[in-house]
Amino acid sequence: MYPEKQTKDLQQQTKTFLQDIALISAREINVLRDVLRFHEHRYYVMNDPLLADYEYDQLFKQLEKLEKENPALVTPDSPTQRVGSSLNQNFTTVQHLVPMLSLDNSYNAEDLIDFDRKAKELTGLDVIEYCIEPKFDGASISLIYENDMLARGATRGDGVEGEDITTNIKQIRSIPLSAPFSPLDVPQIEIRGEILMSKSAFAKYNEGLAEQGLPPLANPRNAASGSLRMKDPKEVGRRNLEAFLYHVSYYSDDKGKPAAERIEEPHDADLQDEKLLQTHAGSLKLLWDCGFRSPQKEKKVVKGIDEVIKHVSDFEAMRDDLPYEIDGMVVKVNDFALQDQMGMTTHHPRWAIAYKFKARQA
Ligand code: IVH
Repeated sequence: MYPEKQTKDLQQQTKTFLQDIALISAREINVLRDVLRFHEHRYYVMNDPLLADYEYDQLFKQLEKLEKENPALVTPDSPTQRVGSSLNQNFTTVQHLVPMLSLDNSYNAEDLIDFDRKAKELTGLDVIEYCIEPKFDGASISLIYENDMLARGATRGDGVEGEDITTNIKQIRSIPLSAPFSPLDVPQIEIRGEILMSKSAFAKYNEGLAEQGLPPLANPRNAASGSLRMKDPKEVGRRNLEAFLYHVSYYSDDKGKPAAERIEEPHDADLQDEKLLQTHAGSLKLLWDCGFRSPQKEKKVVKGIDEVIKHVSDFEAMRDDLPYEIDGMVVKVNDFALQDQMGMTTHHPRWAIAYKFKARQA
């Protein structure tokens, strides 16, 4: 997202601003917002902060002050705009652009070998390339960006319709309020992912409940999914939720053509030229480059099912070392053209399978 040169410039700019925060003027408001967004990205997406919390807070307060003095300069994607001011009255029902399917499950090597055999039958190939990533144990969400702005966040619901939870989604700081899709000629895009509460945030949250004499939440998954439909966005903010985005379900190119039509013909958008939307791994890179926390580093691309079997068992062994809960791995045919060839049932895509880890001992 931020190339080396830009990172250096933003660090230099941060230093200059910090020398005398009160001197930052309304003329510099866009630069100040860029600086704050950059540090949010370092902290929440890259997990590699460059700024002390205190310094971030000081810069944020200066932005709030400038926006208060100059209300006309407030933008919908300003870092100040995450903070919800009012309670959510109700969550309206909204339709997903593409239905949110589930995944078929596998539990052992034989199941995976069976999945690979069917994949080879359906594609006519001898060896298939797979992209493997964690199966995040949280609550699934669907985001729509229109003209670079986060336009809507929704729960999965019944897969066809979910609930509009945009105000709550904005509390999750790893989800950008705007993202640079227009340079790719993509005016509308729908992105899927999972909301999580990290193990440490969960422990801290339960400590807080205990201090108030309240019963603890059962597990991080319930904590995350229960948070999404809360009336008070501020309370959602306090829960320190995180998000991984792992799937582009739809995009329209500059001519406004929906993805379903595009699949039938060679795509002509820049995305295609850059080979970003030809493979699942490419889509994870695209999301990462646009500022999203995709499993870009956690994913692995392998050839053939033997390597898949080895990788999922290696990953299961280090499951407890992760800062968040996963309940398995997801194995996806990497090539989108092959995915299209394999198609889907009404329940799940035929090109992907969840490999579920063994249930934990209580
Ligand atoms: S792919 C068509 N990838 O698992 C694409 N799902 O049990 C289908 N999940 O509903 C989803 N991590 O909420 C995918 N890396 C991942 C995932 C993942 C968690 C969830 C997702 C899905 C459920 C199915």
